[in-house]
Amino acid sequence: MTRETNLEGVNLVVAGVTGAVGQEFLRVLEERNFPIRRLALLASPRSAGKIIPFRGKEYTVETLENFDPSGYDIALFSAGGGVSKAQAPRFADAGVVVVDNSSAFRMEPDVPLVIPEVNPESVNKRKRNIIANPNCSTIIALVPLWPLHRHFGLKRVVIATYQAVSGAGARALEELRRQTERVLRGEDARPEVFPHPIAFNLFSHNSEIDDEGFNLEERKMIRETHKIFEDETIGVCATCIRVPTFRSHAEAINTEFAEPVDLEEVRFLLGKAPGVRIVDDRASNHFPMPLEASDQDDILVGRIRRDPSAPRPENALAFFVAGDQLRKGAATNAVQIAELILQERSR
Ligand SMILES: NC(=O)c1ccc[n+]([C@@H]2O[C@H](COP(=O)([O-])OP(=O)(O)OC[C@H]3O[C@@H](n4cnc5c(N)ncnc54)[C@H](OP(=O)(O)O)[C@@H]3O)[C@@H](O)[C@H]2O)c1
Repeated sequence: MTRETNLEGVNLVVAGVTGAVGQEFLRVLEERNFPIRRLALLASPRSAGKIIPFRGKEYTVETLENFDPSGYDIALFSAGGGVSKAQAPRFADAGVVVVDNSSAFRMEPDVPLVIPEVNPESVNKRKRNIIANPNCSTIIALVPLWPLHRHFGLKRVVIATYQAVSGAGARALEELRRQTERVLRGEDARPEVFPHPIAFNLFSHNSEIDDEGFNLEERKMIRETHKIFEDETIGVCATCIRVPTFRSHAEAINTEFAEPVDLEEVRFLLGKAPGVRIVDDRASNHFPMPLEASDQDDILVGRIRRDPSAPRPENALAFFVAGDQLRKGAATNAVQIAELILQERSR
């Protein structure tokens, strides 16, 4: 499965590089000084030939479906589920470890679903060369839930999301900008990417609804929480909503634990948890906000309080989070996984 790797750098592929996540990959790789020997930037035939600068050099975008992956070590994929399904196995069979941002492989039993702050050891349990990045809303909820789950034992969690438009890609981001200008000029919003106007509006997440009334995003949060925490007995209910913010998802989270929850201990655990920053200033009413969560990697956590409505209020906690779904919810998490692969190869 592994190929000898020059530790001065790996041969890296970024697939979907022209998209919202793809562009963020390049920023995160640059910031984290990820060691790269050879780099290939791939997208659809629409983008072939486009020039993209990276670390002072210019790269020509190549077409993913014609690309020969031999000789490459790691591929970061963010080109959509259908493309991953069709292309990732070809890369994996050629010995390339694919870190996939889509939902295509997340629930496959032989594909680890990894949040490096939660289950880094799962990276080594892959049976084929594919590792899945969880759904962005799942990552943003589970990074702060993990230290609480380990300490108090999570029994039930109810989540309501406030999801930014860039979660639906570069075209959706443009749609909010364009619609906002149109509506302010007194014109119709004219939705193209989303099913409803998003400017000055919000609506249930734009994914299909199943027979029990859950949309696909909500199902992902439920299933992925069970897989990552390795516990199907945890009760999970989610309501996923698209809101007119450009970037970073926020989530209201209500929890019930097996053990009584001490608020001081909660602050202590969250305060030292990797990837978490407490923003909980009651005096100035300053709590997590998408604008402050954007362009950085921490999940901001605030509004930390007991939930007096729970059957056992002493075991129940409510809080509010915000995290950059393009970074920790996608690109940063995937690059962290790639760093774990580098560590594994250097041992
Ligand atoms: N946006 C987020 O916050 C987020 C978070 C977590 C996970 N994800 C997942 O990441 C993936 C990408 O999302 P995104 O938001 O970056 O979408 P996006 O902005 O629409 O970008 C899609 C990318 O995929 C490429 N692509 C499309 N069809 C292709 C094909 N047939 N062959 C090769 N490349 C193709 C596009 O290339 P062209 O420019 O050439 O069309 C573009 O680079 C999705 O699976 C999404 O679910 C997104």
